[in-house]
Amino acid sequence: MPTPRETPHDRDGRHQPALRLTRADLDALPNYVPGRSPADLARELGLPEAIKLASNEVPYGPLPGVVEAVTEAVTGSHRYPDMGVVALRQALAERYGVDADRIATGCGSVALAEHLVRATCLPGDELLYSWRSFEAYPIIAATSGATSVRVPNDAGHGHDLAAMAAAVTDRTRMVLVCNPNNPTGTAVRKAELDRFLDSVGEDVLVVIDEAYREFVTDPEVPDGLTYLDRPNVVVLRTLSKAWGLAGLRIGFLVAAPEVAAAVRKVVTPFSTSMAAQAGALAALAQADEVQRRCALVVAERDRVTEALRKLVPDVPSSQANFVWLPLGERAVDFGKACEARGVIVRPFAGDGVRVTIGTPAENDAFLAAAESALA
Ligand SMILES: Cc1ncc(COP(=O)(O)O)c(C=O)c1O
Repeated sequence: MPTPRETPHDRDGRHQPALRLTRADLDALPNYVPGRSPADLARELGLPEAIKLASNEVPYGPLPGVVEAVTEAVTGSHRYPDMGVVALRQALAERYGVDADRIATGCGSVALAEHLVRATCLPGDELLYSWRSFEAYPIIAATSGATSVRVPNDAGHGHDLAAMAAAVTDRTRMVLVCNPNNPTGTAVRKAELDRFLDSVGEDVLVVIDEAYREFVTDPEVPDGLTYLDRPNVVVLRTLSKAWGLAGLRIGFLVAAPEVAAAVRKVVTPFSTSMAAQAGALAALAQADEVQRRCALVVAERDRVTEALRKLVPDVPSSQANFVWLPLGERAVDFGKACEARGVIVRPFAGDGVRVTIGTPAENDAFLAAAESALA
């Protein structure tokens, strides 16, 4: 077997690995493809600006006070942040009416989902989720050695919780319930979630991913925090969406104290940065403004859904800040047609297109693009 020094190089001197240095199973994972930059697209199309409706961000800028708090915090950036995230966990505890020992924070809720898998699954254990759902789930399963078990969405593009319950085996360690579901916007209601939780063993962690909770208006869609009397339920939340902190990377979970403590053990040290902690504290003081912005998004979501249904009749009702167009094989072409008109959306090849709700003017531009794309 050659030593690394003997491995061949191509004519340009680039290393040609004869030894495999990384795990072979990672070859099966998709490479991250960065979303189209609106600035590049605008330049290419010769437009003053392009519109990005592809990442489920809220379009109204950072909340008042966030920039100032972050600017002040980074004057101490030669120091490590508080690894216990004490002040922020306390503020979250007060806001959500839970004890701070039930809370863990992380570098976005996606990192916390990863830590939860790390804290529950050994290689070969099963991670169960509905599909199609959040794209990160299969990657998290694969990188942690867990086996993905995917249950197809039902005919209405939502979770089929009865089928998910039937798919639980004695290898299942964790189930993800994405509520509302990314990218379809559908949400599970209380009666079906109750039934599901009753049928899943108490030794299986059920993670309710509520990244879009703040946009839910259906009173039948339960707040995951009302299930905390069940020790196997974990609620995952993010400050990236309604709270406008996507770029600072901050999410949190609420769980039984032992589960939260286990996650805090496996979390990457210091991964809740001081900027994220300060920004989150400032954002949490702006709950009224968040509510006002969410109401704007919801009103636009309903308007856009109604307009889209004239073009694509089976657009499901969304409880999130995006809508889903089940265009099947037309998804990629539709995405390209919108881009050609200066609007970046998120197509999933062969399946559908997710479109984030923007400002009224952005949504009008999207609806005009959609109309001509589908004409
Ligand atoms: C369902 C769901 N969960 C979690 C996340 C992750 O959010 P973040 O890592 O920004 O907190 C997202 C982001 O798109 C999401 O859609």
